[in-house]
Amino acid sequence: MKNFIYGLPKVELHLHIEGTLEPELMFELAKRNKVEIPYNSPQEVHEAYQFNNLQSFLDIYYQGANVLITEQDFFDLTWAYLLRCKEDNVIHTEIFFDPQTHTARNISFDTVVNGIYRALEQAAAELNISSRLIMCFLRHLSEESAFETLGQAMNHKDKIIAVGLDSSELGHPPSKFTNVFQAALQAGLLTVAHAGEEGPAQNIHDSLELLGITRIDHGVRCIDDEALMNQLIANKTPLTVCPLSNTKLKVFDKMEQHNVVELLRRGLCVTLNSDDPAYFGGYMNANFIAVANAHPMSKKELIQLTFNAIQASFISEREKKRLT
Ligand code: ADE
Ligand code: ZN
Repeated sequence: MKNFIYGLPKVELHLHIEGTLEPELMFELAKRNKVEIPYNSPQEVHEAYQFNNLQSFLDIYYQGANVLITEQDFFDLTWAYLLRCKEDNVIHTEIFFDPQTHTARNISFDTVVNGIYRALEQAAAELNISSRLIMCFLRHLSEESAFETLGQAMNHKDKIIAVGLDSSELGHPPSKFTNVFQAALQAGLLTVAHAGEEGPAQNIHDSLELLGITRIDHGVRCIDDEALMNQLIANKTPLTVCPLSNTKLKVFDKMEQHNVVELLRRGLCVTLNSDDPAYFGGYMNANFIAVANAHPMSKKELIQLTFNAIQASFISEREKKRLT
């Protein structure tokens, strides 16, 4: 099964580029940019990655991003991830970035997006990996700040396909961002949102109703609401599920308790993704293998996961046909 998973072409739809910052690159960039970090070695960084919940991870994750300063840093970060994609046979990836994490430190929006985008273009040419870029608003910040970020993105509409919503779900419901998501839709962008990761099924419902989202990031708490389940099945609404993330952040105590295969078998359009692989201990292959070890799946089901991801992606119908 391991070899089958390695050979399976994969499509990633839930990946925070800041979450691919490996401790070794963190050290290299800290040195290059003369930024102080509270660790003495990459090994110490690895050891610090023990989390109780989403917030305990986010605190460390935002701190790690402090080493990213120049356009070249954002290029190097993204390129390192794309090389890992090649190893894991990822043929298409849709990448989140969090501009506010950087603009709050006086790094310009242009520096961030140009560095990431240059790596994506190079990957299309040299690695045969296609991609899309999704800009996330941090939900612990205000809607006003999200509006400011949307304004900065308007010069880069050729590079950004959608807006998303991430960071602390508890206490920051979708309704807080109704207006800015409506403005993004008006500007011709697609929308997605993290919902039902730590928060309740109601957040999934409200993200669909208020934010016009075309897929749900995580969404595993949908299992608590039977009417919502039926709606997601009927509408083929995709869920970008991140199994290793969910066990690391204690959404599920053990992979054996994870509901992703149950959701797949109930007929939901489930996809597997790595979220923040440098922090959660695995890229795409590792996520597939962790799930398959805990919940044995047929080859047909594994192929269905890739098929779902192609269908759920933001590429054109023509490109989808080419990949299937
Ligand atoms: N930002 C990066 N990873 C995240 C996650 N799993 N949930 C919410 N925000 C995030
Ligand atoms: Zn995420």
